[in-house]
Amino acid sequence: MKPTYSMQTVEVDEAVPKSRRVYFEVFGCQMNKLDAELMLEGLMQRGYQLVHDPEEAGVILYNTCSVRERAEERAVMRMTSFKRRKKEEPELILGLTGCVAQHKQEELAERAPWIDLIIGTREFDRLPDLIDEARGESQSILATEMDSPLEFVRQRNLGPQPWHAFVSVMRGCDMVCTYCIVPTTRGKEVSRPPEVILDEVRRLAADGVQEITFLGQTVNSYGKRLGAGVGLDTLLRGVEEIDGIHRCHFITSHPRFMRPKLIQAMADCSKVMNYLHLPVQSGSDSMLARMKRTYDRDFYLKCIERLREKMPDITLATDFIVGFPGETDEEFEESLSLVKEVGFDSGYVFQYSPRPGTVSADHLVDDIPLEVKKERNHLLLDALHTSGKARNDRFLGRTVEVIAEGPSRTDPTRWAGRARDHRIAIWPACPDDKAGSFAVVKVNRTSAATLFGERVDGPSEKPILPPEVR
Ligand code: SAH
Ligand code: SF4
Ligand code: F3S
Repeated sequence: MKPTYSMQTVEVDEAVPKSRRVYFEVFGCQMNKLDAELMLEGLMQRGYQLVHDPEEAGVILYNTCSVRERAEERAVMRMTSFKRRKKEEPELILGLTGCVAQHKQEELAERAPWIDLIIGTREFDRLPDLIDEARGESQSILATEMDSPLEFVRQRNLGPQPWHAFVSVMRGCDMVCTYCIVPTTRGKEVSRPPEVILDEVRRLAADGVQEITFLGQTVNSYGKRLGAGVGLDTLLRGVEEIDGIHRCHFITSHPRFMRPKLIQAMADCSKVMNYLHLPVQSGSDSMLARMKRTYDRDFYLKCIERLREKMPDITLATDFIVGFPGETDEEFEESLSLVKEVGFDSGYVFQYSPRPGTVSADHLVDDIPLEVKKERNHLLLDALHTSGKARNDRFLGRTVEVIAEGPSRTDPTRWAGRARDHRIAIWPACPDDKAGSFAVVKVNRTSAATLFGERVDGPSEKPILPPEVR
């Protein structure tokens, strides 16, 4: 797996000594990306600088993911590749942070004592101090307390795109999905107070951010234990009042918490994107029960119905797991039929990976052969592509408003941007394309994942089209 993220950086300042140059790789979900940015901000306040070549760095950090076995093993293997350098350069600091550090803390300290820092998901605000401590220490330092309050005041956005920022609204997960390691690595659900979050959004807006993504493992249960009336809808309505922010969305939602007042706020707020990622995991009631997802197919479908009543054109993305223990052909067919029935715009498919310590890994046999998992993965992706293509075809001849992101990765003569419903649009580069500005694209071709077209308007720092046609 390739690292999924690169943060913004500036030219290497030769005056910054090697001991203050940090190389950071990030694996896993958006939460991990944001945590890496927060760690980097803390380090920059102490005079550190981000570099893109590990050879130039005196501190090497990996923010890791445990969600599937491959991700976990890769991170540890990559860290092992620095073992020899650490021998030759004992002042080099190696740190493993995030979910693998939290999950495998003792095993890592034993298996890889040359890793200086093992920092879990709730203590990373101490990173700069822990690096100082590690400089005089020969043993691994563990910082993996789960109940220590994370304390950070965010002043700036270090994400790869200056106009977009992630904002954490809650951490941890109180659900008990039988396959999932996240409640172990991230702990119990804790929501941040709404005024703290909205202050952060105001500061980010002043720093040039136009679009924000609220993050939480079950982001739509936000507000639990904060008192009556506080929910994700409070935040959406709060953002509506913040000048400079033009778009906002949130990930990842759980079907159980898709409540009417949240759906109403999504429909009412012009800044909330016309997009929802709502993982279903399976279309079969018996599978959903074995996964302990706390809903059945009918409940999920009703949820979609309620969303479409208020937002008829909403873009829907989802996640599926294939090859969960005991998944029969009939059960799998129900996932395929759900794709048709809902008409998803897009979706991710994951092959079940037993994670030691979870209920399914400890009590159920991983009995679906790899070949069958692969075949089901392929079939389900095919169904999602068919569904996505049909949904995209509705845009032929229509215009969409995008925030321009930059030249397309596969073809630099074309530019890419994201529409308000999270669709990617691509157009031939124009002289006045500008990253972070709004543009209007007329669609003349589609694929399962992308809209293609021509720019029909000049760039603008503000939305161009009226809200109802964006
Ligand atoms: N909190 C989110 C997602 C967390 S993990 C939610 O509740 O939906 C992201 C995705 O990884 C999940 O939606 C699930 O599809 C997948 N996943 C989690 N554990 C897995 C496992 N053990 N094997 C395969 N896929 C898994
Ligand atoms: Fe994992 Fe389920 Fe929590 Fe999502 S809701 S993080 S899948 S336990
Ligand atoms: Fe992975 Fe941890 Fe996110 S396990 S998916 S990095 S919460």
